[in-house]
Amino acid sequence: AGKSAGVLKPPDLSPAWPRDTACRACPLGARAYSCCIPSEGPTTPRLVVVGEAPGEREERWERPFVGRSGKLLQGALTQAGLSRGDVLLMNVVRCYPRDVQGDPVDEVPPEALVTCPPLFFSKDLARVDTYVPVLVLGASALKVATGRTGIRNLSGDSFVHEGRTYWCHLHPA
Ligand code: URA
Repeated sequence: AGKSAGVLKPPDLSPAWPRDTACRACPLGARAYSCCIPSEGPTTPRLVVVGEAPGEREERWERPFVGRSGKLLQGALTQAGLSRGDVLLMNVVRCYPRDVQGDPVDEVPPEALVTCPPLFFSKDLARVDTYVPVLVLGASALKVATGRTGIRNLSGDSFVHEGRTYWCHLHPA
């Protein structure tokens, strides 16, 4: 055994998930400081969590759900008896949205919600067994993942779509 025997190295959970750091499929990639924040988590997760887009901290750390939403999510996972490492974290849009000046924008541009998801989100989700439940956070994630609208009415509910069970919740941020 080598020097590190007995030391538990935390697993690096993002290499399994593809990323294109030079993505120019929509204007967001060119404006982002850090493009195409990848999904993070095991390929056989106990739960999939789908957010809208990385925030400022996510962009800086190049990891999903490490900001305020991540903290809230962590609390909810703990209550549910899950740890972050059990969960596959992803976003339907992969760049922190900025305008042409490079300033952050509150709303993800509609174009990005059409262009980005087939390139990364849909492909990543397709690799996960359909028995794994999917928690969608917010209207954009719900619409992209299932085609449904009305997050306010659906929040707290679940339904089956294309063989997967989706749970809906208002976005925490
Ligand atoms: N962080 C993310 O990665 N996604 C969100 O939707 C919110 C915060």
